[in-house]
Amino acid sequence: MKSTGVQRSALPVHPVLNARFSPRAFSDRAVTDAELELVLEAARWAPSSMNEQPWRFLITRRGEEGHAELLATLNHSNQVWANKAPVLILNLVHRILSRIGQENFHARHDLGIATAQLTAQATALGMGLHILGGFHADAARAAFGIPETYDVVSVIVLGFPGEPDSLPEQLMQRELQHSPRRPLAELVHYGRFNG
Ligand SMILES: Cc1cc2nc3c(=O)[nH]c(=O)nc-3n(C[C@H](O)[C@H](O)[C@H](O)COP(=O)(O)O)c2cc1C
Repeated sequence: MKSTGVQRSALPVHPVLNARFSPRAFSDRAVTDAELELVLEAARWAPSSMNEQPWRFLITRRGEEGHAELLATLNHSNQVWANKAPVLILNLVHRILSRIGQENFHARHDLGIATAQLTAQATALGMGLHILGGFHADAARAAFGIPETYDVVSVIVLGFPGEPDSLPEQLMQRELQHSPRRPLAELVHYGRFNG
């Protein structure tokens, strides 16, 4: 499992979770069909409200159909490094519960779980994965003809981690930094909410 070598948590959380970070440096190594299927399969087994499985993944591979169009929807600050990764995935959710025809309040929540499982599987395979909200969802909707009953939520940049020094200086520094976390005491409340 390649990482920046930073032991992120001081506690013994699972190595897959501890090794994960959001890389910007990607190597030239391609993602095989089998590797791609495995990470998507990991997402498939995520739990979801009413077992709706509202997530949808639109896969694009570098040099193949749809990739240039999806890349063009990213914010410039993301495009400059994401263009090297072999796979870009557009994350969608179906907004309507199929059983009752009503809005699925938990659709994005469930996409989050599915992408977390996809991320864990990818990390276990030594892959690097970076989720992006910095893209133009309306442009992606138009480019791929996504119907209004789907929300266009995020983009996954997927590949294998590259060398940090392949990045421009400023991004290289960020690649090597430990991204901070709030302390558990701020995130967790026991028995009552402390604001
Ligand atoms: C929904 C979502 C949107 C994000 N959007 C961007 C983005 O547009 N550009 C970017 O460089 N990173 C983006 N990130 C990555 C976060 O900045 C990153 O996960 C956070 O700083 C923690 O760092 P780590 O993933 O390396 O632990 C996004 C992450 C998520 C989950």
